[in-house]
Amino acid sequence: MFNFQYYAPTKVVFGKETESQVGQLVKAQGCKKVLIHYGGGSVKRSGLLDRVKASLESEGVAYVELGGVVPNPRLELVYEGIDLCKKEGVDFILAVGGGSVIDSGKAIGYGVATEGDVWELYEHKRNATACLPIGVILTIAAAGSETSNSSVITKEDTLDKRFYDDDISRPKFAIMNPELTMTLPDYQTGCGVADILMHTQERYFTNGGNMEMTDQIAEGLMRNVIANAKILVKDPKNYDARAEVMWAGSLSHNGLTGCGNDGGDFMTHMLEHEMGGMYDVAHGAGLAAVWGSWARYVYKNCLHRFVRFATNVMGVEAVGTEEEIALKGIEALEAFYREIGMPTNFRELGVEAKDEELREMARRCANYVGGEKGSARLLKEADMYEIYKMAL
Ligand code: NZQ
Ligand code: ZN
Repeated sequence: MFNFQYYAPTKVVFGKETESQVGQLVKAQGCKKVLIHYGGGSVKRSGLLDRVKASLESEGVAYVELGGVVPNPRLELVYEGIDLCKKEGVDFILAVGGGSVIDSGKAIGYGVATEGDVWELYEHKRNATACLPIGVILTIAAAGSETSNSSVITKEDTLDKRFYDDDISRPKFAIMNPELTMTLPDYQTGCGVADILMHTQERYFTNGGNMEMTDQIAEGLMRNVIANAKILVKDPKNYDARAEVMWAGSLSHNGLTGCGNDGGDFMTHMLEHEMGGMYDVAHGAGLAAVWGSWARYVYKNCLHRFVRFATNVMGVEAVGTEEEIALKGIEALEAFYREIGMPTNFRELGVEAKDEELREMARRCANYVGGEKGSARLLKEADMYEIYKMAL
């Protein structure tokens, strides 16, 4: 077991109609002017945006708004948001949406409060000195950005999708009403489920120590997400299943399921970020498409964890060799992905990748992680290319 810090400062306000509290929650932050940040239109269609504005107005909170965040959020809009906030004297950001909106909001928050070009943070050239405070109304259970320290932005001209992690961007509050996720297309619900599972798996498939408490939380979380995702395939309006998945989404990426490990593997995420940059695919679908290939490439180097995952999470019978059991666990997760409409390779993802694109993604990925990365198995550029090729 490794030493660890666990920092989860976000106030979670969970349950039905909780978005009506947003005016009070923002007012309690003592800010002068709020930026309401949102995506491509789902919050307008659902009427949520109007309810948010009404709640702010009833508390006398001034606001400006900036919509138009797209999945794999773009740097261009971040710059626009920074200019708007500076011009309007905005001192609080309210992100109404999913991971893309929250991440864009975090980037704007850094850009307003820290001198210099915000993209340099995402290039890991320097660290932020400050970030505007952020509040969230979550509309999709997926990225976990509502309680995480992470933000992922895409620079459109170079197709670089890059992350920046810093505790100063963890949201002050997150309003989580599972009912708000009921307007999601089934595909987006599936993408969210894949991402939630992966955030715990990245911390679970490691060779660096473990903590039984953490492992049991991780396994319980994964079993629970799988069980409730299956319910949502048949009954998308099931409130309790929505609530289980939503809460799991936050716990899966706020650090809880990594306490005592070696920092995690995170190579599936690094591989997917290149795919998101290159092909603009939904993050969760990209993860599902590449995970099986990653798992088959690394499992022999992390056999004890793959065996444990197979038996404790996927319910595989402990019969046969350890390698056979581990492979059955991988197959079982892929079968689950197919059941919830998620792809298990590039073809199912709808991507016809060219060999030179795979090489380019492997080159970029290796470059970004400083040459090599991974705990289940340390991967270099040639390994990354092999995994992409296996995923075709
Ligand atoms: O833009 P709108 O119209 O709102 O539509 C969105 C979008 O098209 C739609 N949607 C969201 N809530 C909805 C809804 N549609 C109907 N009803 C609702 N209630 O869903 C689509 C996807 O939204 P997005 O915010 O992109 O989803 P997600 O939460 O999966 O975020 C993905 C982004 O987060 C990053 C990913 O890389 C990707 O860029 N990640 C962020 C992390 C973090 N900050 O901690 C960690 C993750 O590993 C991930 O990398
Ligand atoms: Zn993710």
